[in-house]
Amino acid sequence: MIITKLRLHDFRNYPEITLYPHTGINLFFGQNGSGKTNLLEAVHCCALGRSHRAGNDREMVMRGRPSGGCGVTVDGEDGFSSEIVVHFTPEERRKKQVWINRKKTTRLAELMGHLRCVIFSPEDLSLVKEGPSARRRYLDMMISQLDVGYFVALQRYQKAMEERNSVLREGKRQGAIRESLLDPYDELMAESAAQILPRRQETMAWIGRVAAETYGEICGRPEERLETIYQPFSGARMDKEEILQVLREGRREDMARGTSCTGPHREDILMMLSGREMRLYASQGQARTAALALKLAQRRYFEEKTGEKPVLLLDDVMSELDMSRRTRLLSEISSAQTFVTCTDESDLDGCGERRVYHVSLNAAACAEVEERSDGGERREDRGRQVEEPDFS
Ligand SMILES: Nc1ncnc2c1ncn2[C@@H]1O[C@H](COP(=O)(O)OP(=O)(O)OP(=O)(O)O)[C@@H](O)[C@H]1O
Ligand SMILES: [Mg+2]
Repeated sequence: MIITKLRLHDFRNYPEITLYPHTGINLFFGQNGSGKTNLLEAVHCCALGRSHRAGNDREMVMRGRPSGGCGVTVDGEDGFSSEIVVHFTPEERRKKQVWINRKKTTRLAELMGHLRCVIFSPEDLSLVKEGPSARRRYLDMMISQLDVGYFVALQRYQKAMEERNSVLREGKRQGAIRESLLDPYDELMAESAAQILPRRQETMAWIGRVAAETYGEICGRPEERLETIYQPFSGARMDKEEILQVLREGRREDMARGTSCTGPHREDILMMLSGREMRLYASQGQARTAALALKLAQRRYFEEKTGEKPVLLLDDVMSELDMSRRTRLLSEISSAQTFVTCTDESDLDGCGERRVYHVSLNAAACAEVEERSDGGERREDRGRQVEEPDFS
């Protein structure tokens, strides 16, 4: 997959910018706070409709503006190209608008798969060192980019759970609840969970195997064995009726606590290194290697499942990696379109052909991007006419 055009409009600190990226490496360098990560975030939004950073969609819109957005034109390896625009409208009833090939869509799900990306960032460490939500997010974002049905099942599950929680909260407030009120929600949750669980299990089996191999290659110490073990909330039970049974068994606790305590939203991926839980025991370097191995495995998974290389987004990771990890990452990025940010241009010395952009702040504190060198041919140089995405 190749992004041939990237446009930001009132997005973060970019009033308006259009870039025609290189098909290989695009390096953005500049001072802290200039707007490098914002560019990668825009690409991520075009792939998944949301930021890779935690936070509110409203923050994506330039301060003082009512709306803003980003858009890409993506060439797939099948010869087709897609034009995607994501427009954030926090002041309107519908807070986010998505256009695909100039057609407005009402379902975010339709966005999935047009652009697949893998982001590497210093925050990846949270995959190993923090609680389960970062790991679930990793898994959900990965599978959603491959399987729209999975994304839809997640949305349905979430909606049913929120409604179930409001019933449980009200029940707790009143001191009692008729248990049968939970029946329709449990039914919906079990149906979605029966779609979610097998996909999670299958994906983590693949990822776990490849991440373990990758970890071994980077670390080079056979006694350090990485294991990533998916832990379904239902144990081995994956069928809708069985899941329903597990949800029912959890009702008593749910009613006592006033919230849903069991389900896919509470699952985890256990990360072990040589039999010890990494969250508690891993050193900083071991955790970093495991996180890198998970992301590299994700990149390979996309390629294995689709035959296409995803776009890679590397946010400030080079300076954090030692030579062996850096070499490994560089060998992976050499064959895919990559957007890299760093504060020092020399962080990417030795990685071959690339296009370099300098990102800086102007007098109005807005980001500006200046192309410093041209590492090769641009797609639009070959006579292809790309019209402006429609932000209206
Ligand atoms: N909604 C917004 N409106 C205007 N400016 C914003 C908005 N959100 C963030 N910014 C500005 O964007 C800048 C941060 O951009 P970004 O995170 O891309 O920086 P960076 O170049 O990646 O920095 P670092 O090297 O520290 O990672 C800050 O100056 C911040 O004030
Ligand atoms: Mg940054």
